Amino acid sequence: MEAFRIVGGRPVTGECRVSGAKNAVLPLLAAGLLCGGEVRLEHCPRLMDIKNMLLILKALGCRAEQEGDSILLDARNADKHVMPRELSKQMRSSIFMLGPVLARFGEAEFTYPGGCEIGLRPIDLHLSALRAMGAQVREEQGRILCSGSLKGAQIHLDYPSVGATETILMAAVTAKGDTVLHNAAREPEIRDLARFLNRCGADVRGAGEGAIYVRGGASLHGCSYTPLTDRIVAGTLLLAAPMTGGDVFVRGARAEDMQAVLHKLEQTGCRLSVEKEGVRVRAAGRPKAVRRVETNPHPSFPTDMQAQMMALLAVAEGTSLVLENVFENRFAHAGELNRMGADIEISGRIAIVRGVRRLFGQRVASRDLRGGAALVLAGLAAESETLVDHIGYIDRGYERLEEMLSQMGADIRRVETEE
Ligand code: EPZ
Repeated sequence: MEAFRIVGGRPVTGECRVSGAKNAVLPLLAAGLLCGGEVRLEHCPRLMDIKNMLLILKALGCRAEQEGDSILLDARNADKHVMPRELSKQMRSSIFMLGPVLARFGEAEFTYPGGCEIGLRPIDLHLSALRAMGAQVREEQGRILCSGSLKGAQIHLDYPSVGATETILMAAVTAKGDTVLHNAAREPEIRDLARFLNRCGADVRGAGEGAIYVRGGASLHGCSYTPLTDRIVAGTLLLAAPMTGGDVFVRGARAEDMQAVLHKLEQTGCRLSVEKEGVRVRAAGRPKAVRRVETNPHPSFPTDMQAQMMALLAVAEGTSLVLENVFENRFAHAGELNRMGADIEISGRIAIVRGVRRLFGQRVASRDLRGGAALVLAGLAAESETLVDHIGYIDRGYERLEEMLSQMGADIRRVETEE
């Protein structure tokens, strides 16, 4: 099994470049199913989740290849509306395909994607929105059976779900009639999806705001598109600076997408500089605790940065509160950080983080994608050697994280370990 062996205590200083965002590429690939021409996505990372999404598209009859950081998708010969059971079970992102498959074929058959490490991950908001657009949706023995031609509708989301917003946009662009979506998610990836759809001939307005207007009846052509850069990978890399007394420049980081994270970083006393080409963070002595970090939908502090921020606060001066409002089970990393000498107390969705001066190296295990990244950051800050197991979780969202960190002076290597 692969693990990261890290010898901590060295400042992480230098420059790295961030690629396209995993959470932008995945919905863009799903939307490509609606396009009547070739779609080429540039600057895409090579990640397990993207590889699996390409397998799903191939299973539906598409041509879908990644060469280097370019992805070529041609859905013109897609002819299947049944999602292979094994693929949709193992791949939560398969749910992104539900809207496009139903919109394209008038029917769709999927397996419930099921929960994952961080929560139950229900899809009720996706299904109720498709029903509001005229789809018949049956749920039988873990299968989801949808059919019907989609019509534009007035939809109000009870919660600004990222995935449900994306499902609705992809279902609405070719539906008969216009759709207005209220209480839509405002994440930058939503704006990116709308920009892509409009580049292919759709008419989507207001993405990134609370209400989104979609003119129906579009017939979409192909296009070449560069997704926005990954604000979570960028934020993770920037945190290595205050955790190790270093100085990190992330080329391609878009400050406008990471305001809440940069604001919290400033509160810990780091020196930030937002430049045209990216963002730079310099440590200024030991980081200071912040009164509270509260995760909520964009533009609030992103849940995908909660674990990494907790690792930073674990070595900060003072006590911080971390509140995880988005997912019900996203503190698994706290126990592993405590095994490295952190002092974190969990009560429901609240973590009390009492900063300690130093962490010490330990053998720890990733339990989910962002929690694993947090343990890597903790290993960089700790004295002596840390071994982070189950790094397959980390590879789902970070392309060769160890190479990006080593090129900035970190002592981190990918090693084989016995089980
Ligand atoms: C997307 O997941 C991201 N994944 C997640 O990133 C991210 O954490 C999340 O948005 C929130 O920002 C991708 O984009 C592939 P949600 P998604 O629907 O769409 C509840 C990572 O680390 N909910 O906004 O599944 C749900 O239970 C991953 O890269 C319902 O109740 O997130 C959760 O509590 C992890 N019913 C909350 O909404 C629904 O039908 C947020 O979920 C859908 C969601």
